[in-house]
Amino acid sequence: MAAKPFVKWAGGKGQLLVELENRLPAYILQGKTIPRYVEPFVGGGAMFFNLQNRYKIGESFLSDCNEDLILTYEVIKGDAKELIMELSEIEVFHLKKSEDERKENYYSIRESYNSQEIDYQTPSFQWIKRAAYFIFLNKTCFNGLYRLNSKGLFNVPFGRYKNPTICDEKNLIEVQKALKNTNLAQGDFTGSAEYIKDGSFVYFDPPYRPLNKTSHFTSYSKDGFNDDSQKRLADFYREMDGRGAKLMLSNSDPKNQDEGDKFFDELYNGFNLERISAKRNINRDASRRGKINELVVRNYS
Ligand SMILES: C[S@@+](CC[C@H](N)C(=O)[O-])C[C@H]1O[C@@H](n2cnc3c(N)ncnc32)[C@H](O)[C@@H]1O
Repeated sequence: MAAKPFVKWAGGKGQLLVELENRLPAYILQGKTIPRYVEPFVGGGAMFFNLQNRYKIGESFLSDCNEDLILTYEVIKGDAKELIMELSEIEVFHLKKSEDERKENYYSIRESYNSQEIDYQTPSFQWIKRAAYFIFLNKTCFNGLYRLNSKGLFNVPFGRYKNPTICDEKNLIEVQKALKNTNLAQGDFTGSAEYIKDGSFVYFDPPYRPLNKTSHFTSYSKDGFNDDSQKRLADFYREMDGRGAKLMLSNSDPKNQDEGDKFFDELYNGFNLERISAKRNINRDASRRGKINELVVRNYS
């Protein structure tokens, strides 16, 4: 069995993965090996798990600014068995309840999660509990979203699912194996600089630039990711290009909405910028869930 993302994450790549894989650097496609892989916006890790299952990755560096997401990666890597025990208890308790009771249970766990005091520096049993809450909330909340309010509290409402799989034991074990040679870190994408050098392959999947003013899917963290952040990232991309690493970046294409929008064309001027067709899942407006273009920027051809 191949490892797959253990959370549903906005921006998870779905069918776009094939298109991205076709655009890997030639040395990876030919040698089936990635000596050094860096992913500074790892999220649910759709790209990482796909590559891990199909290529031999030497070492990898995965990071994201979401503290609880990275804590959960750490817990799975370190002690998937303990997590499975904790999570399956939560699952059994939840699934034997009626719909109304499940809703009550969801809000009670959300409250425990929001009020839990956590020391992110020192691993403890609290980490296992927190990782279990994090996965539970992801699997049972509305649309699998992760959204924090301005106080940093998780505020996604209950989602109605008939039979949610909360504890996918087999996958968690596979994920643990896939994480064996990874370095994990929480923080801003610039922190990955120390791992990026000649010979690294870097995949950037930053929060999308909203396609219109009503679709904000950028609140994975309380700080958000605005146009200034996109510019900061483009500067970082240029800097890393100078190190001889192979870089791939994907983002939403503002031209889907406004033909005249040249935001990314200007930011990534001089690089290999392509528009490819992709299906997007997470969009509040169902009528917009169809095919739209996605941008892929590479510093190689
Ligand atoms: C589009 S998602 C990545 C989705 C991922 N590729 C997947 O397969 O699920 C963007 C990620 O960037 C993270 N993020 C937002 N701002 C960031 C920052 N300044 N530095 C690092 N990560 C950030 C979010 O927490 C989110 O997980």
